[in-house]
Amino acid sequence: MNDKRFYITTPIYYPSGKLHIGHAYCTVATDAMARYKRLCGYDVMFLTGTDEHGQKIEDKAREAGVTPQEFVDNIVAAPGGVLDLWKLMNVSYDRFIRTTDDYHVSAIQKIFKQMYDNGDIYKGSYKGKYCKPCESFWTESQLVDGKCPDCGREVMDAEEEAYFFRASKYAGRVRDLLLNTDFLEPKSRVHEMVNNFIDCEGGLQDLCVSRTSFTWGVPVDFDPGHVVYVWLDALFNYMTALGYQNDKYNDLERFWPADAHFVGKEIVRFHAIYWPAFLMSMGLPLPKKLYGHGWLNFNGDKMSKSKGNVVDPHLLSQRYGVDALRFFLLRSFPFGSDGNFSNELLIQTINVDLANDLGNLVSRTTAMVEKYFGGTLPEARQGAALDDELIGLAAGLRGRYEAQMEKFQFQNALEEIFKVIQRANKYIDENAPWALAKDMEANGPRLAAVLYNLLEAVRVCAVLLTPFMPGSCEKIFGQIGAGESARTWDSAANWGELPANVSVSKGENLFPRIDMNKELAELEAIQEEARRAALPALEIEPLAEEKVDFDTFCKSDFRAVKVKACENVKKSDKLLKFTLDDGTGADRQILSGIAKWYRPEELVGKTLVAIVNLPPRRMMGQESQGMLISAVHTERGEERLNLLMVDDAIPAGAKLC
Ligand code: MSP
Repeated sequence: MNDKRFYITTPIYYPSGKLHIGHAYCTVATDAMARYKRLCGYDVMFLTGTDEHGQKIEDKAREAGVTPQEFVDNIVAAPGGVLDLWKLMNVSYDRFIRTTDDYHVSAIQKIFKQMYDNGDIYKGSYKGKYCKPCESFWTESQLVDGKCPDCGREVMDAEEEAYFFRASKYAGRVRDLLLNTDFLEPKSRVHEMVNNFIDCEGGLQDLCVSRTSFTWGVPVDFDPGHVVYVWLDALFNYMTALGYQNDKYNDLERFWPADAHFVGKEIVRFHAIYWPAFLMSMGLPLPKKLYGHGWLNFNGDKMSKSKGNVVDPHLLSQRYGVDALRFFLLRSFPFGSDGNFSNELLIQTINVDLANDLGNLVSRTTAMVEKYFGGTLPEARQGAALDDELIGLAAGLRGRYEAQMEKFQFQNALEEIFKVIQRANKYIDENAPWALAKDMEANGPRLAAVLYNLLEAVRVCAVLLTPFMPGSCEKIFGQIGAGESARTWDSAANWGELPANVSVSKGENLFPRIDMNKELAELEAIQEEARRAALPALEIEPLAEEKVDFDTFCKSDFRAVKVKACENVKKSDKLLKFTLDDGTGADRQILSGIAKWYRPEELVGKTLVAIVNLPPRRMMGQESQGMLISAVHTERGEERLNLLMVDDAIPAGAKLC
């Protein structure tokens, strides 16, 4: 039985909408780590899943007209959903938990009861803001301009009966864990946690762990009407998925405590403070490591559905291949800090690292073995001093890579590999195999040695790249003829593992170069279209609340008017000038800011509606004697305007009332 074990988790995702590249970032990092540990010979448990309870899901389901369970099923398990995305991205999770799974729900009820029985959960009241018409509780920070975020109306102070967790009791132990151990990394996050939540005014507050204002949650079985707070429910997934308080699994002994929880920076607080406190309350061992990674922004801005700037991993992996996308995510950004996603950086990384450096090295090397030796190198080879640097660099690579991987510094680990790849490309230029090939009789053994060294450099790099790009490395191994024993962790530390007489074949070009300008234009058009599609189909202005009295309304004189002439106003891209028949016999001139929506010639002869008793106004040096009436609304974020046109049978000057 393998006693080298490794348990790693991603956060469990809210299935409240489609996952984006930011979500994929954390999962791909966790996957690379899990694959790396498997490569090193560990018995690995990689857990991911979905966090399916809470008010947000309940609200979204209501909006969609389905039950909350139907709503989450549709996002998690339907085609194009969470499970499909992980399959597409080649995520090798060992277990997938949904917090609506029965075994998890009943385990959470037992945990809640046990904390209640041991006195760490107690009943109190939750003070908040209440919107009566919506029957909703809000916290101060959820309000928008001090009003209900749903309906915009006034809220009142209110209290709701709720259960609380005695977090304050564990403040000292959690503080010690954060300050005096290596539990939380990167270190920069430690002080933020301690200063803001423990050493702050009033110290660590008890946490409200039940709600009565909605029902989509794990019911508190001994007090109907209460549901368990989503974070208590969600955090314990890391243990229930191993069999804690349930019979579905039996892996606690094998894998708990977890070796690493990877989480995004905004949820470090729940994992660094409440999660250890919950475990302390239950007398359970604490996870060994919590790593708070940074955020991926989009063109410098936070990715968010409401801004319409979320990046779709389905789209990118379909266009560039899943490995290129996986590689880009971990190569381009240091894991602990924020990173800025841009299409340009993505394409540049693919072109420089994958097409130029790695792709070229593999295709040049395999093509030369084919061309000069028919795909099989001779046994007899001839080394030279010129080889020492490349061989030395490649032979020490595994150690340098391991040191970085153990610290979750994926970018640095990849940097080490690419130093060898770049050195190998330089080695090709230094040795000029095409020149050696001109005299095979004299230079054949040396040429074979050069090509063998290149194959070995490719092999060692491919072994260590496997956690990042499993599919592509498999193809590289096929092209250089590396069998199972030449793909192992041990073999990556040994120069010369590839038998000389393997069959090498050039095969397909793994990373085709992308035409940057063409691709950027196409991508931007697709993303713009998706942004627009995410905006509301139709928005209309809310009805005016202020009342107008009948007499005032009657004073407005609306008339049918016929367009005799219409033209653009010089130097204005907004205004059209109308000459109108208003039934009086004299022409009436009205200027209207509608040039964006109409060409002048299409309006001539139409019967429109104008208010004619407004005081005249001057615009762009011309007088406007009234205003044309139009209907306005917003469609997919774009303002639309339609002039009010009436039946041409209505005579000019007819009064509208
Ligand atoms: N359900 C909770 C986690 C519970 S874990 C017990 C949650 N879910 S989430 O779907 O909102 O976010 C899941 C993860 O995605 C978080 O770690 C979050 O930081 C990460 N990301 C969401 N957007 C992100 C970026 N733009 N960039 C990087 N990661 C981001 O939180």
